[in-house]
Amino acid sequence: MGHILAIDQGTTSSRAIIFDDAMKIVASAQEEFPQHYPASGHVEHDPADIWSTVAATCREAVERAEVATSDIAAIGIANQRETVIVWDRETGRPIHNAIVWQDRRTADRCAKLREDGHEKFITAATGLLLDPYFSATKLAWLLDNVEGARRQAENGKLAFGTVDTYLIWRLTGGRSHVTDATNAARTMLYNIDKGEWDADICKLLDIPQAILPEVKDCAADFGMTRADLFGREIPIYGVAGDQQAATIGQACFTPGMLKSTYGTGCFALLNTGDRMVASKNRMLTTIAYQFDGRPTYALEGSIFIAGAVVQWLRDGLKVIRHARETDALAKSADTAQTLYMVPAFTGLGAPYWDAESRGAIFGLTRNSGPAEFARAALQSVGYQTRDLLEAMQDDWGSADSANILRVDGGMSANDWTMQFLSDILGVPVDRPKVVETTTLGAAWLAGSRAGLYPDRDEFAKIWALDRQFTPSMDEATRERLYKGWKNAVSRTLGAI
Ligand code: G3P
Repeated sequence: MGHILAIDQGTTSSRAIIFDDAMKIVASAQEEFPQHYPASGHVEHDPADIWSTVAATCREAVERAEVATSDIAAIGIANQRETVIVWDRETGRPIHNAIVWQDRRTADRCAKLREDGHEKFITAATGLLLDPYFSATKLAWLLDNVEGARRQAENGKLAFGTVDTYLIWRLTGGRSHVTDATNAARTMLYNIDKGEWDADICKLLDIPQAILPEVKDCAADFGMTRADLFGREIPIYGVAGDQQAATIGQACFTPGMLKSTYGTGCFALLNTGDRMVASKNRMLTTIAYQFDGRPTYALEGSIFIAGAVVQWLRDGLKVIRHARETDALAKSADTAQTLYMVPAFTGLGAPYWDAESRGAIFGLTRNSGPAEFARAALQSVGYQTRDLLEAMQDDWGSADSANILRVDGGMSANDWTMQFLSDILGVPVDRPKVVETTTLGAAWLAGSRAGLYPDRDEFAKIWALDRQFTPSMDEATRERLYKGWKNAVSRTLGAI
């Protein structure tokens, strides 16, 4: 029983990785699935695709690892957060496609709730802002718009879940309707202080509590898989939302530790210990992880466009063919030019939360070309991270903390970007040896519960550095550049 199967169900693909008893990757499998955009601002997934790609990648990873399923001690799950699925408890059939975290269809509802003065109490209870990003108004939308749904929900016939809950339901053959505290914390229905579903918010949105799953610790008994899936029942012992799983995989277990994951977007989490820090700067207060019934809190900053800006250079602007070309291009850019690219393709996330702004480029001259565009695109990731870091440091109020950033995700492989990140932040940027931190976090949760992996302190000691980037930019340049960025953003805010 020396292996762990970790699932990472993400926004665009599902992945499964087999880790051995030394937490080393033995084999992995990945499958993309279709995105559905039925109307402007609407983003949906077919739950059947989510399930079939998870099942297929699990089987493939097990096969590639050449391990018997009897050698898999437990399963850990990390998942795209906030995405909403509602299904019939009896048939298991979803009543609608999954409404994805990026979906903006409930923007008007959120605006109305804000106008009616509900944001303050919702933020105090959940740590979140009243934004369509979170699950609550999406769930309310389903109950309002799918015929008969609310009545069925009231009669206990429907189940709601974020993606973790839906996967566990499928894996256990409908025996478990559960989630973990980190995923619950993203629904905007969960009181993160009291550790329970918030009756007042449910009432406000007319959401029957019978539809909600039971909330557990991140390392807990989430149920046994159906025997026919892997030839035997395997326990599910670990669950966390993907960004929280990455925080765990980065071993950010001490207050003041900070990680940032660069995927399509960027999500930075600062461990604030048992303090629920209320943000003055429009950061989110959330649960980083929960063990033994005790939550550890975090401040979170979410940027919508990070790696996606490189995709845009490749697929939209077509100035590169491969993402890796940006490194050399940025290096070759004209140092006499200062371009700013504000990648507000879908509005701006933290700390601006401006859904109306759109992308812009400032500082163009007749000499500006692909190299300067590439440099500005990569720099935008650094500037946006500094926006988050400044806001978090101000909220957290402890000058000697949050002074090293641990990075992971695809873009963390780009040395030029990581060096600029360190330069513009003025703090060291640490890239770990294992950049698969999301699945590692999920695996560690399951493996530690199974008694296979070391405890938290030992795990933190195993975390190994690949490379540290240290600031090499002088203070005056750093501040001049960042001032220019703030100016560029201020001119971009609001609708065109
Ligand atoms: O909050 C959304 C986040 O969990 C999505 O992460 O990696 O699937 O894009 P990812």
